[in-house]
Amino acid sequence: MSRYLGTATALTALMAVASVGIASESPLAQQLNALENFQVIAHRGASGHAPESTLPAYELAHEWGVDYLELDAQLTADGEVVIFHDNTLERTSNGEGHIHEHTLAELKALDTGSWFNEANPEQASEDFVGLPMLTLEELFDHFGHTTRYYIETKSPHLNPGLEAALVERLEAYDMVEEGRVLVQSFAQESLLKIQALNPEIPLVQLLWYSPSEGEGTPLVEWNDTTPAPGQMRASDFQRIAEYAVGIGTNARHDGQDVIAADFIELAQQNGLPVHVYTVNEPSEMERLMGLGVNGLFSDYPDRVQALIVE
Ligand code: G3P
Ligand code: CA
Repeated sequence: MSRYLGTATALTALMAVASVGIASESPLAQQLNALENFQVIAHRGASGHAPESTLPAYELAHEWGVDYLELDAQLTADGEVVIFHDNTLERTSNGEGHIHEHTLAELKALDTGSWFNEANPEQASEDFVGLPMLTLEELFDHFGHTTRYYIETKSPHLNPGLEAALVERLEAYDMVEEGRVLVQSFAQESLLKIQALNPEIPLVQLLWYSPSEGEGTPLVEWNDTTPAPGQMRASDFQRIAEYAVGIGTNARHDGQDVIAADFIELAQQNGLPVHVYTVNEPSEMERLMGLGVNGLFSDYPDRVQALIVE
């Protein structure tokens, strides 16, 4: 009996120590620990349901309780950080030209919602007409620390100065120490600039694998950041792990697999959770979840959530 009580007392004491540990773990540490779990990442918001990168798309995703709101950051001619995916305005607005050629006032005058109604008449809504381009600060003002943000430095060669402008805003809103942000980029150089500005910011290296010269030719990574996926060794992942806390990758190109289970396992063994973009079909979501990926970027985060067994 006393032995049982002794064990129970010891266990209680251990649990108390553990709970103090959890309570005292910083928000940033909690965020990094959570990367071991499966993450639902709303790609440009719930962009299958509302115009990408607009407030309604982010509000829907937030309402559904996703883990991260994904966004692409670019810099205006007058140094404001705006949320917009394409380098040019034509596809998802009534403007023309590059983001960096326009001031914020010019961009704010554009309609970034009506294109969605024309492209998706069955999902069209009057609420989407005239939606303005969002600044990063507007998104932060709206959601604050109630969610996490997965921010891509988009086309850094077209947006010089983006990294400094982004870090300034992350710091002003206490996003880093509150464990609220991941910064992602296809450009390793851009991530290293962020790291130099604030080494606490968790970074994700994006990778894009495609055939080098048409179907059936060897796979290459877009920026030569890594060897072909089938030739990746532990040391290749370790090089990324020196500055990043994870990788984001495509899993398929033109319907063909570009990564397999061994790629995912080796990345994880070397400290890099694997997030796959952009996955919209439930069958593919299930396949990748079965392979053990750590998260999915999706325009339909509700579909990903529906597959998660609590
Ligand atoms: O950031 C992950 C994924 O969004 C990368 O592709 O072109 O949609 O920004 P893209
Ligand atoms: Ca992106």
